[in-house]
Amino acid sequence: MNNIDKLFKLAQEAASNAYAPYSNFKVGSAILSHSGHFYVGCNVENIAYPNGSCAEAGAIASMIANGDKQIKSLLIYADSQTLITPCGACRQRISEFANKDTIIYLANSKGVQKKYTANELLPNNFKEF
Ligand code: THU
Repeated sequence: MNNIDKLFKLAQEAASNAYAPYSNFKVGSAILSHSGHFYVGCNVENIAYPNGSCAEAGAIASMIANGDKQIKSLLIYADSQTLITPCGACRQRISEFANKDTIIYLANSKGVQKKYTANELLPNNFKEF
């Protein structure tokens, strides 16, 4: 299985475990790091709505907790016929650990639909220079 298929399968599995009783919108995310490891996350909602967290935040937290810091590629899977793009906060989270070659794939139940660089998703991200 190639890396894109693996990312898709992992993100789809993570989405099936998402906790989204308020939006009924399950999202999964999978990261392949530069060191060759895979990490996953899903959205975790809360009855106090703003306390919910996105799938990408979970996958990034898992990557960091496991000692990795560089995202080679990241896939966002929406358990839906529609497609989603990451929220603004997650674009900033991704950019923290991305480089110019990092690829972000967008997928839904029909498969992988689009791909972007982190810079395309969030040009002029917050940084000091
Ligand atoms: N969500 C994600 O997990 N990732 C995204 O890229 C966009 C939105 C979640 C947040 C919320 O739990 C649900 O999807 C509906 O917005």
